[in-house]
Amino acid sequence: MDKSDTNNLNMHIVVSKNGPYRVSGRIPLQIQEIVSNKDGMSWDWKTGQTFETPNEYLLCRCGQSGNKPFCDNSHLKYKFDGLETASRIPYARQTKNYEGSTLILNDNEKLCAFARFCDPGGKIWGLIERTDIPQARDLVIREATHCPSGRLTLHDRKTNEEIEEHRETSIGIVEDLPLGCSGPLWVQGKIPIESEDGKAYEPRNRVTLCRCGASDNKPFCNGSHASMRFHDGLFQRKTRPL
Ligand code: SF4
Ligand code: FES
Repeated sequence: MDKSDTNNLNMHIVVSKNGPYRVSGRIPLQIQEIVSNKDGMSWDWKTGQTFETPNEYLLCRCGQSGNKPFCDNSHLKYKFDGLETASRIPYARQTKNYEGSTLILNDNEKLCAFARFCDPGGKIWGLIERTDIPQARDLVIREATHCPSGRLTLHDRKTNEEIEEHRETSIGIVEDLPLGCSGPLWVQGKIPIESEDGKAYEPRNRVTLCRCGASDNKPFCNGSHASMRFHDGLFQRKTRPL
């Protein structure tokens, strides 16, 4: 579904107080697996199982549900502290910007979901300086647009236009198979996200919401699921050292 459908079906996500994400508007929900290249680096996404979902559903935010990715009220038993601590300042006013030869890389490190698409080719922060070379430019665009969290975005240096891939509205259940752990919820296609206090977060094409319960930048993911090796039980894991 595309953005116009977002309005038609009133798609949105509400972060409930110390509880789950309330998802409305029949938003598609599917597994998104990280696929690595021959060097073991994050390279692509593979869409897996699609979940049958009603118009409204609840997704676990505390990491404790016995029925992940859905909520089973475990947040009550475990007295989940889901306090939202993320800044409400728009993304563009929080970034550090790296000027390359043909592209500008915008970076808000706090949003990093540790998916590692920025690593191949010697890391995106070094590659940006070589974007006068077409292969380096293509790799930088690939890496930034594959970043699920929206930490990294790009602008063309000459035209100042944002370089962003169109993303259908959906929620991805991230599975980091190369690392042997489960990741955040990957919210794609500018789905509105509302805080428990009723205020809206800035709608963005790519964001990742914490579902392990451990992020200190809630409701967004900060990569904590990787260090704690969060596992939702939806795949057989082989854990790899960090
Ligand atoms: S989430 Fe984005 S910034 Fe963080 S490691 Fe992955 S690609 Fe790099
Ligand atoms: S899912 Fe990434 S920090 Fe919780």
